[in-house]
Amino acid sequence: MDILEKALEKSGQIEQSSTDHSTQLKPKLARSIPATKSSVKIDWGKLAAEGYLSNEEGKSGLAEQYRMVKRPLLTNAFSAAAEGINRSNLLLVTSSIPSEGKTFTAINLAISIANERDKNVLLIDADVAKPTLAKRLGITESPGLIEYLEDESLGFSDISLSTDIPNLQIIPAGKRHTFSTELLSSNRMLQFVEQLSERYSDRIVIFDSPPLLAATEAEVLAALVGQIVLVVSAETTMQNTVKEALKKLEDCDVVLGLLNKAKHEYAMSYYGYGGYGYGQYGQQHEAEE
Ligand SMILES: Nc1ncnc2c1ncn2[C@@H]1O[C@H](COP(=O)(O)OP(=O)(O)OP(=O)(O)O)[C@@H](O)[C@H]1O
Ligand SMILES: [Mg+2]
Repeated sequence: MDILEKALEKSGQIEQSSTDHSTQLKPKLARSIPATKSSVKIDWGKLAAEGYLSNEEGKSGLAEQYRMVKRPLLTNAFSAAAEGINRSNLLLVTSSIPSEGKTFTAINLAISIANERDKNVLLIDADVAKPTLAKRLGITESPGLIEYLEDESLGFSDISLSTDIPNLQIIPAGKRHTFSTELLSSNRMLQFVEQLSERYSDRIVIFDSPPLLAATEAEVLAALVGQIVLVVSAETTMQNTVKEALKKLEDCDVVLGLLNKAKHEYAMSYYGYGGYGYGQYGQQHEAEE
């Protein structure tokens, strides 16, 4: 029985992650923030009213929980461990079914990592079927990922938005498109994620995704990133549902299950997390050691 199955069996009990806090985070290349043409101001009041992390929050319970949540991701992304993970700085926040807290997690994670100062965070709304990121942040919808994939004349600076946090940029989803799955599996998307992983390796890219069992886009996106955060709504999502979603992630290097909305003092801890090299839900990675 692998770690995840054990965790699932406990259903609701939360294991604390085996984070290595001592590992140094070392960007592989020099720092680089590409230019954007537009700038937006995040509506912090709205976010705070909805229970999100703020850019100035240091000591709150939520801030502390996100410190725990981001640490293994950053370790996997930038430490020596990253060598074995393809596109380790690209993270997909997904879930089995709708409303488990993907967007909540993606936004809070982005704010928490941006608060690190020496990291640049790019938050991309890849929930192209049901984009909510812009609205949640209180910013106006603008051309985004879909337009970029459709129109080869557009560059990064045409779709990325700088924010009032200097090291946080956002790319909205853009307009709805009938063939969004095909666009996400296109060569242009592949080139885009390659650029994001290779050219700016001091950067964390967080993709807010659709749910795995409700749309085909999430599976396509999962194949493009180095790390997956699988958000599980603690009190409501059935074990079998999670297992079904995990089957779609079998080829992913690192999958971290994140219990959300848990009524527990360790709410938002990872479970089924085997650390780097134990990619597939706790199974020992063959190439490890
Ligand atoms: N840990 C949490 N604490 C408080 N509110 C939360 C938490 N997680 C999610 N929410 C709230 O629950 C609702 C659903 O969350 P969210 O929109 O992030 O889910 P989602 O998985 O992105 O949904 P969808 O599948 O529709 O994209 C939102 O109103 C969000 O603010
Ligand atoms: Mg969402």
